[in-house]
Amino acid sequence: MCGIVGASAQRNVEPILLEGLRRLEYRGYDSAGMALVNDGALDRTRAVGKVQALADKLAEAPRPGVLGIAHTRWATHGGVSETNAHPHVSSSRIAVVHNGIIENFEPLRERLREAGYEFTSQTDTEVVAHLIDSHLGDSGDLATAVRTTVDELDGAYALAVVCRDDPHTLVATRSGSPLVLGVGIGEHFVASDVAALLPVTRDFIYLEEGDLVVLTHERYTIIDGSGAEVDRPVKESGLSLSATEKGSYRHFMLKEIYEQPRALAETWQGRVSADDIFASSISAEARELLDGVEYIHIVACGTSHHAGLVARYWLEAMARIPCNVELASEYRYRDPVVPKNCLFVTLSQSGETADTLAALRYAKSLGTGDGGYLATLAICNKPESSLTRESDLVLMTHAGPEIGVASTKAFTTQLLCLLLLTGMLERSADDRRALAEEIHQLATSVERVLELDNAIRHLAEEFVDKDHALFLGRGPMYPIAMEGALKLKEISYLHAEAYAAGELKHGPLALVDEKMPVIAIAPKNDWLEKVKSNLQEVRARGGKLYVFADAASGLDTGPGITVLDMPHVDETLAPIAYTVPLQLLAYHVAVAKGTDVDQPRNLAKSVTVE
Ligand code: AGP
Repeated sequence: MCGIVGASAQRNVEPILLEGLRRLEYRGYDSAGMALVNDGALDRTRAVGKVQALADKLAEAPRPGVLGIAHTRWATHGGVSETNAHPHVSSSRIAVVHNGIIENFEPLRERLREAGYEFTSQTDTEVVAHLIDSHLGDSGDLATAVRTTVDELDGAYALAVVCRDDPHTLVATRSGSPLVLGVGIGEHFVASDVAALLPVTRDFIYLEEGDLVVLTHERYTIIDGSGAEVDRPVKESGLSLSATEKGSYRHFMLKEIYEQPRALAETWQGRVSADDIFASSISAEARELLDGVEYIHIVACGTSHHAGLVARYWLEAMARIPCNVELASEYRYRDPVVPKNCLFVTLSQSGETADTLAALRYAKSLGTGDGGYLATLAICNKPESSLTRESDLVLMTHAGPEIGVASTKAFTTQLLCLLLLTGMLERSADDRRALAEEIHQLATSVERVLELDNAIRHLAEEFVDKDHALFLGRGPMYPIAMEGALKLKEISYLHAEAYAAGELKHGPLALVDEKMPVIAIAPKNDWLEKVKSNLQEVRARGGKLYVFADAASGLDTGPGITVLDMPHVDETLAPIAYTVPLQLLAYHVAVAKGTDVDQPRNLAKSVTVE
């Protein structure tokens, strides 16, 4: 979603802002803009399309500035156009960039129109610029005007504001959308994400809900939601610049697929010994709490939701703990019955997904007594995200930065964390030992799956002219089929649906003919014979089958069926290993179709609005 960068320095900040925007491109956007303050002038430049289009415009008419804000916009209110791109300006003196949605913008716009303000865009953000301008008239102080303005806003926002008449001051504030303060030497910055500022600083302050920061190149002051000046800790980012760069890979997605053996190893190391899981690497307090868990609710969105669906099979079969998995966007608007001693688990790569955060806040609002949850646990990839800061317990997926919009290594490491949680809750020491041994082999198994890359690249050519695809799986492979279908549709724009293979004859079989590719996931497990029967049903209707199976499955390539030979993987860990070829398939189909793999149309990496 929208990305914000801002800077106050003693040097020209235009290249800093431009590089920051490039580093925020992964979030998804459709236009970009920048406002620079210099010599009593406010210069705004905006462009539809890529950040490069903005860079080209800036290069045509360079106007350096020591103070500036910049933005990548992901359209919500109003179409993709230059007039709707940020920054929005009021009275030629105030410039604002915004990430989030102002829900009460319509009544505010009416009021401002009556006061004489003219609107040039269809956005919700433009009201913020005019409101600040109107309040600035009262106090003459930009920070006070911003504070008075946000008190009138309903919705979510991260805002960065500059004023032509205050040539070194940037005011930024957040509520419901992420914002970090970058602390430099003789210069200060704000951004939606630390990645934007890594070339200029490693020291960050993670602003909290309701915080407002007033910064110049010399100093910064943070004021919390109650109006009190506060100190927030400065934390050094451990992220390397290269971790957020593509290196020799053609796309971030491919790099991230290939990083999975390492990401998985980093996720279990220190948590799994030779014969046990979380034997020592957990506080006594957390262990006591988790030992009391009798029920689990998992809430997440998109790919993260699919990880939860796999975990339900594990938690119920292995730990015998009943588990309910729900989409955050549904959960947050219903009135769920919470069983006694129920753990509320959120899954999120970004830790900033608006629906997941809202679901967590709702769960917390129920308290810990009757009708409430025992505790909340976040399984997350971003250490300083809102989700981790607001949850009682945190289990980090050590996937490292995931830049491609399509989630890959975050998903497989989420699965591993959920398996570690299941293993810890598993009562049998023997079963825990067996699982620990298998986890030690996981990275090697995934490396062997990656060897199929070339074969899958060839296979992908058969999908380029297809309009639809069906994915089938049973048991824990059903959510993996859902994940495979989601990957294919989000980056190759090919319509794909997943079904539990047993559901085929209850409707989707009507779609099957010789033009319909059907992708099945069929490792040797308890469901295999049933899956084979379902595959026969497809063949009998002329459907073309592509099956991911291991040798023990006894499936062979023949007329109408192509079998991709997977290495043997332990049955419990198979959902993790079988995800990888589906990621590669989606990737190669997208490359063959020439779509924008890392930033697919209309999608955002971090979905910070509802
Ligand atoms: C994954 O490929 C998707 N881009 C998307 O479904 C994503 O998983 C979802 O938006 C949830 O994001 P989160 O994990 O950051 O909360």
